[in-house]
Amino acid sequence: MTENKVYFIGAGPGDPEFLTLKGARALAQSQLVFAPTPYEQTFAELLAGKTILVPFEYYFQELLERIRASLETGAVSFLVPGDLTFYSPFQGLIDALGEAAEVIPGVGTVNAASARLKKTLDLPGVCKSTVIVSPRTLGDRPEDPKLIDYARPGTSLLIYMNNIPLPDLANELRRGYGCNVPIVIVHRLCLPGEEIVQGTLDDIVAKVGARDFFNLRAKTKRPALTLVLVGESLTAQEDGSWWDYRRENIWRYRDGE
Ligand SMILES: C[S@@+](CC[C@H](N)C(=O)[O-])C[C@H]1O[C@@H](n2cnc3c(N)ncnc32)[C@H](O)[C@@H]1O
Repeated sequence: MTENKVYFIGAGPGDPEFLTLKGARALAQSQLVFAPTPYEQTFAELLAGKTILVPFEYYFQELLERIRASLETGAVSFLVPGDLTFYSPFQGLIDALGEAAEVIPGVGTVNAASARLKKTLDLPGVCKSTVIVSPRTLGDRPEDPKLIDYARPGTSLLIYMNNIPLPDLANELRRGYGCNVPIVIVHRLCLPGEEIVQGTLDDIVAKVGARDFFNLRAKTKRPALTLVLVGESLTAQEDGSWWDYRRENIWRYRDGE
């Protein structure tokens, strides 16, 4: 029985600068690395001299056998886009590997997007909730909630793997919010070809123009590397009043504390 581990390393949005120190250490000690595109390119320097395989080129059992065989001689790593928290296909492998699997958290795409926009997504007094959703995984039974059901004033929506044409998406969101709210399209964040388009539900279609940010005209079925963020917190400006409110009511040490 080997003590070697299979590391599922949160690799961030694509730029190796976002790898954690823990992730970098695990990667350094793995001879075999499973890297989805474009990580084999953007991580090339950290992967030099290692065997690189694309996980999606294998069926599940085949992949497990390959991992188990490699574990006999050393650690194995998977570069997990963003990290495991949302929309990650690796859960089956992690469950099958049990004790041999170790998950290392990383910078999710939404964390990197929030940082790039310099906006927190649940600003007090502006957005009370943040909903993470993908039209690809919403249910198709009549009673299942639809995207429009999540689009509410005071809610930041983070839409992964969108497959709805932008004019339809903007219309549906407009109906849900019932007013014009900010929207940002973040394409290939931290990768070559990065584009960020900021607008509102009323003008985003014109601002994007002919660009196919969601691969809807491409032959591939793979989702584009594009994240959509919607909601009032994207453009809200915060003054010091919440700070002072918290200082007064929450943070300030009181007698006896
Ligand atoms: C299978 S999900 C993986 C999400 C990942 N686990 C995370 O934490 O960000 C793939 C989707 O994540 C988003 N995404 C991943 N990388 C991205 C990037 N570099 N720029 C913009 N969106 C990205 C896109 O919505 C893409 O369709």
